[in-house]
Amino acid sequence: MTSRCVVSLNVVFRTLCQSTKYTNSSVRRKSLWTQDRVLTSPHKNINIPNCTLNEFVWENLDKWPERTVAVCAITGRGYTYEQAFYLSNAFAANLRTKFKIVDGDVVSVMLPNIPDYPLVAMGILEAGAVISSINPIYTAHEVHRQLLVSNAKVVVTLPEISNIVKEAFKLAKIDIPIIVIKTNGDPAPEGTVLFNELSEDVHVDTSCLKKVRRSNNDVCFLPYSSGTTGLPKGVELSHRNIVANCIQISEPAIKQHNETTKTHQDVVMAVLPFFHSYGATVTMFHRMVVGGKIVTLAKLQPEQFLQSLEKYKANILHIAPPLGLLMTSHPAASPKIYQYLEVILNGAAPFAGSDANRLLSKIQRKIDFRQGYGLTETSPVVSLPIIGSEHYSSVGNPMPSTEVRIVDSNLKNLGPNETGELLVRGPQVMRGYKNNPEANRETFTEDGWFRTGDMAVVDDNGDITIADRIKELIKVKGFQVPPAELEGVLRDHPSVLDVAVIGVPHPTNGEAPKAFVVLKNGQNADTKDICNFVNERVASYKRLNDIVFLDSIPKSLSGKILRKDLKAKYC
Ligand SMILES: *[C@@H]1O[C@H](CO)[C@@H](O)[C@H](O)[C@H]1NC(C)=O
Ligand SMILES: *[C@@H]1O[C@H](CO)[C@@H](O)[C@H](O)[C@H]1NC(C)=O
Ligand SMILES: *[C@@H]1O[C@H](CO)[C@@H](O)[C@H](O)[C@H]1NC(C)=O
Ligand SMILES: *[C@@H]1O[C@H](CO)[C@@H](O)[C@H](O)[C@H]1NC(C)=O
Repeated sequence: MTSRCVVSLNVVFRTLCQSTKYTNSSVRRKSLWTQDRVLTSPHKNINIPNCTLNEFVWENLDKWPERTVAVCAITGRGYTYEQAFYLSNAFAANLRTKFKIVDGDVVSVMLPNIPDYPLVAMGILEAGAVISSINPIYTAHEVHRQLLVSNAKVVVTLPEISNIVKEAFKLAKIDIPIIVIKTNGDPAPEGTVLFNELSEDVHVDTSCLKKVRRSNNDVCFLPYSSGTTGLPKGVELSHRNIVANCIQISEPAIKQHNETTKTHQDVVMAVLPFFHSYGATVTMFHRMVVGGKIVTLAKLQPEQFLQSLEKYKANILHIAPPLGLLMTSHPAASPKIYQYLEVILNGAAPFAGSDANRLLSKIQRKIDFRQGYGLTETSPVVSLPIIGSEHYSSVGNPMPSTEVRIVDSNLKNLGPNETGELLVRGPQVMRGYKNNPEANRETFTEDGWFRTGDMAVVDDNGDITIADRIKELIKVKGFQVPPAELEGVLRDHPSVLDVAVIGVPHPTNGEAPKAFVVLKNGQNADTKDICNFVNERVASYKRLNDIVFLDSIPKSLSGKILRKDLKAKYC
């Protein structure tokens, strides 16, 4: 076993002692901006091993085989690293032998955060297949689209939502195997196979896994994102993308973990979903690389979540803004509940500096609060502040081996204090959207920079602050709601002639979708009819509660909806 991702305390110490590199802003400014106004990383470049994500994750396995890898916060059901390794291997071998999975096939995973999730994910990778994650609260309508785009060969889900998957098969006109994870004593629903019968199968011949051929440029994870515009697209993340991001966030000056030793194991509360790349990379894969314990919560029930932080002595927590607000305002919140927390990382959407201060005053201790910036398309982390930064509203500096540009609408580079679109180049940037050359052309510049669609400003110190979005995306509780998706559903309503959807500010959820509808001549559907129609077809966080009826939707000459005009008039 080598120690590629191991950060010895010596290195940490040395890096922290070179603090002038980070605190002397004149030094930093010189080193971060190039003459061409490209913002570089303050950290040295990383070496990315030529291996797959599964090889990388299991590399340190024999340092902590007996440690818990994942445990359910509610039931205490869980696995050790060694169990996870053997069970995922048997599952992988069965995927290849019983389900005829071959290199590059897609296996969809529609699961909440349960302790089996890491086993399922690792098993799929070991079988040479690609993990495609689906939000477990999706409706059949939403699932069917994703299954078609990904061309899934098998679906792994829970018994209680397997009927949604079956309905989605009908809509997609496909019939593929369903594997279910049993979390209680109920029998498996008809027509499904139990995960534990595959993972606990001691007779399966795992030698078939020797035939798996995967290079680190092959896709390993296929989550969904709507990008800057349009419908959700499959995001092709390679083994190399995610391995690189795991190494980037292990950089001594920014890392938020301590590797497991005889006397220490980090405990991370996994309440942000694994189906999202933030949860998958930062909370799951990276934690397994450094031997952490992942405490899973399948649902966000505020009291259970808060109590679990104390009960499991969680020292690390990844949040999105609504969770941070809940932690500040919930009546059960107290310094005692938060006594073990050492690290809080905010992501998914910007958290205001004033909100961060309120949260920290609730905790009543100085802890490591930072917010990072990233996207599904960047595996996800693009930037993080260095340890000790108290510039709470900033998302810090580019990750190691990562470059950032701030550009105007002509893609011309801007300098310090100028607001423009943030572009990224680095080893964590996706290969592209699956089967979508048009979206790829819009998303990458000719010289290979990824356009985030987010507006940002960088100060003299090289600290990035996210200013706004130019993409159409609505963010509800940190989740993406693509207006084009809701518009598509609305257009299916028999009375609807034309539609537009925008995001409007919402006091607790960040934003909420609002629809503008033009009815067909002679039709008189009301708000309730139309909301019900939409809300049956979409996950709860995408639901509409407000509709404005118009005579026409404002559009540009080329037919693009003028969302800005709607926002100016109705927000
Ligand atoms: C910061 O660095 C500059 C240039 O190297 C140096 O002249 C200056 O004295 C340093 N300032 C402090 C506070 O160390
Ligand atoms: C990486 O490893 C693969 C197979 O393991 C090999 O085919 C490939 O040539 C290697 N690439 C580099 C750059 O070493
Ligand atoms: C890691 O250990 C250092 C030194 O004991 C401590 O200051 C830091 O908070 C720890 N980090 C985490 C993530 O627990
Ligand atoms: C950027 O803004 C800060 C604060 O307003 C100011 O001190 C600094 O001189 C500005 N830098 C540039 C390059 O304009």
